[in-house]
Amino acid sequence: MYMKQLIKGGRVIDPLNGIDGVKDILIEGKVISQVADQIAVTDQVNVINAEGKIITPGLIDMHVHLREPGLEYKETIYSGTRAAAAGGFTAVASMPNTRPVADNKAVVRFIIEQAARDGAVKVYPIGSITKGSQGEELAEIADLKEAGVVALSDDGNPVVNSEIMRRALEYAQMFNLTVIDHCEDPNLSAEGFMHEGYISTLLGLRGIPAAAEEVMVARDIILAELTESPVHIAHISTVGAVNMVREAKKRGLPVTAEATPHHFTLTDEAVIGYDTATKVSPPLRSEADKEAVLQGLKDGTIDVIATDHAPHAREEKEVEYAYAPNGMVGLETVVPLVVSQLISKGVLSWTDAVVKLSVNPAKILNIPGGTLSVGAAADLTIIDPEKEAVVDPKKFYSLGRNTPFKGWKLRGWPIYTIVNGQIVMKDGKIIE
Ligand code: DOR
Ligand code: ZN
Repeated sequence: MYMKQLIKGGRVIDPLNGIDGVKDILIEGKVISQVADQIAVTDQVNVINAEGKIITPGLIDMHVHLREPGLEYKETIYSGTRAAAAGGFTAVASMPNTRPVADNKAVVRFIIEQAARDGAVKVYPIGSITKGSQGEELAEIADLKEAGVVALSDDGNPVVNSEIMRRALEYAQMFNLTVIDHCEDPNLSAEGFMHEGYISTLLGLRGIPAAAEEVMVARDIILAELTESPVHIAHISTVGAVNMVREAKKRGLPVTAEATPHHFTLTDEAVIGYDTATKVSPPLRSEADKEAVLQGLKDGTIDVIATDHAPHAREEKEVEYAYAPNGMVGLETVVPLVVSQLISKGVLSWTDAVVKLSVNPAKILNIPGGTLSVGAAADLTIIDPEKEAVVDPKKFYSLGRNTPFKGWKLRGWPIYTIVNGQIVMKDGKIIE
């Protein structure tokens, strides 16, 4: 049975309730039962001393590739949700580019059932926009909604046909689902391996211009306006794209955006040395692009921080740069990157960070979470803002080791992940 847990003396950041201050939190069973300046210790409670620590609503990563079904050699729901818990997440939304693609009820139900059996954290499946994510024919959106998807995306692939994207947005709106758009014009990006610029020229690697992303961001903003249906721009990475989203928001359009830790931390300079862990779609961009992403995070243009956790097997990444698949793992390093790169450098306050890592993902996906209100599910993350550690991929719970942050010394790690009142991670270790 569940014990009572009393989290004492931590700095509680609960933006929806306007809280940023030292408080105690009592958990009874699966829910938060009290939040107050002082809660007395009784003998039936397990006390967690959180002095000097940050307590947030459970973090939610709305862009994760769990790879199951079908690509279990890269990641499974078991391993991916443990990576999530280790990284401080209490919930993830899983992208549909599995084998088969999550374009039908059966796959979505499988993911939900497997997550209930094997998952360390909550899993919310995203369904595909088109059959097989091939961009040609709409998926059975009504069926997907009924099976429990929380959004639609062909992530990994763009929806090239504008008419299909328009219909997708119209259907999505009827079912109250947001379309998450992987913005890429494949004719412009075709055969490119990295960002097009000085460094791609220097390395002799064919480049992907910023325009490949921007053309599609522009189109989808136009279609959001036409359909009045919400569009969420995944992994935004260029100056032009950030500017267009800012402008769209000023005009009141239902457009939101997310940025990844790699796009706010790294530039295409990381590709020098040909580490295939730096190969990702969209690619690591220029310094000016990175600055635009930081500015977009700071001024609220970018609503969400999501990892695009994309595990690949070692043998797939241990090839020439051109042949390596796109993607990097992110779940187990994002919190210290947010602390080190954004909070410590004054880009975001703790409240801003929690809004982007919990409040807004819950809002955009229309799922529970993002709050520490009394009566809410006891999903919480505790972060030690002073804890320093070196990123060691060998210690990852993810099966993917493809991180460009190997060997980085980072500060500000999650030390507890609590899901439905149960401690699933303590001091970086999963508790079974
Ligand atoms: O780098 C990426 N990897 N970008 C995507 O859009 C898809 C992802 C994957 O599935 O590996
Ligand atoms: Zn993508």
